[in-house]
Amino acid sequence: MLIIRDLRKHYGSQLALDGVSLEIRRGEFFGLLGPNGAGKSTLMSLVAGLRQPDAGSLALDGVAVTPADPATRAALGLVPQSIALFEDLSAEQNLRVFGELHGLRGALLRERIDEALAAVQLADRRRDQVKKFSGGMQRRLNLVASLLHRPKLLLCDEPTVGVDPQSRNAIFDFLEARNREGPTVIYSTHYMEEATRLCSRIGIIDHGKIHALGTLDELLTRLPFADEMTFPATPATAAFAARVAAHGELATADGGHRFHPHAGFRTSAFYALAEECQLPARLFVAGRPSLEALFLHLTGRTLRE
Ligand SMILES: Nc1ncnc2c1ncn2[C@@H]1O[C@H](COP(=O)(O)OP(=O)(O)OP(=O)(O)O)[C@@H](O)[C@H]1O
Ligand SMILES: [Mg+2]
Repeated sequence: MLIIRDLRKHYGSQLALDGVSLEIRRGEFFGLLGPNGAGKSTLMSLVAGLRQPDAGSLALDGVAVTPADPATRAALGLVPQSIALFEDLSAEQNLRVFGELHGLRGALLRERIDEALAAVQLADRRRDQVKKFSGGMQRRLNLVASLLHRPKLLLCDEPTVGVDPQSRNAIFDFLEARNREGPTVIYSTHYMEEATRLCSRIGIIDHGKIHALGTLDELLTRLPFADEMTFPATPATAAFAARVAAHGELATADGGHRFHPHAGFRTSAFYALAEECQLPARLFVAGRPSLEALFLHLTGRTLRE
C-alpha cells in the first residue's frame, strides 16, 4: 500500500532519517518502535506530506505522496504527537472543523461526530471547551479527529503519551476495532509493550535507520537466545548474578536483572546454581525475551535511555 524508498531528511546539520525503506501492506497494524530522537515523527511527517524529504520517494497505492493532492489528503489521517486541537472550541466544534476540512457536511458529518464522541467516551462532554479537558481526554479527541473522514491509512504518532492505563486500553481497543474494519495503521511508540500488544509487524528504528523488521516472532528469532530469566537485583542476589553472568548475557536495569543463557546452559543448571546460592525459586521469572532485549542486542542501548 505504501512504498517508502531510501528516505533521507536533515534539519540543518542534524540527520533525522538516514535512508529508510519500508513497504507497508494493506490492512496491517505496523509498529515503528524506537527511542526519543529516533526519527519516528520525522518519518510520519514525510508520509503525511507535511515535510519534503531531502531524497527518496513515497508512493501510496502507486501514486507519489503529494500534500496538495486531494486524493492523498483523503487517504491519510494523522494523529500528531503533540495535541492539535482548538482549545477554545468545544469537543463537538473541533470535530466539526476537522470534518469540514475533509469535505464532510450535514447529516453525514453529524453522524460521524456522534460516533466518534461515543467511541472515546466523550459524548457527555461534547459541549465543553477542550481547554477544560484532562490531558487524556484531549488525547482521545485528538485521535478520533483524524478518523472522521475514514482514511485508508492512519498514522498514529505516540497517541497514548500521558494517558492513564485504563484510557490507554480504551485507545488500543478502539484502534484495533478500526483496523479490523479497514484502515491500515502505522503506529509509533517507544513502549515495547504497545508494539507487542498491537502490531502485526514491527520496524525497530534508531538514529534514522530501520535496524530490524518483522513480526514479533521473526524479530525475536534474531536473538542468539530463546529464554529470558528475570530476578531482582539485590545484595542477596549479587553473588549469584556474578556467577551466572559467566553463562550468558546479564543486563541490569530498574532494580532487576535480565539473564539470557548461552546455548547449552540448561535451565536445570541455572536453578542448581541458584540453590547453591541459597536463593528460592520464587525469585525467578522465566519467559521469552522481549523487544527491549532485541533493541539492546541490536543497538547496545536500552529503549529508555
Ligand atoms: N523541527 C526540527 N528541527 C531540528 N531538528 C529536529 C526537528 N525535528 C526533529 N529534529 C531532530 O531530528 C531527529 C529525529 O527527531 P524525531 O522527532 O523524528 O524523533 P522521534 O523518534 O519522533 O522522537 P520522540 O520519541 O522524542 O518523539 C532528532 O535528532 C531531533 O532532534
Ligand atoms: Mg516523535
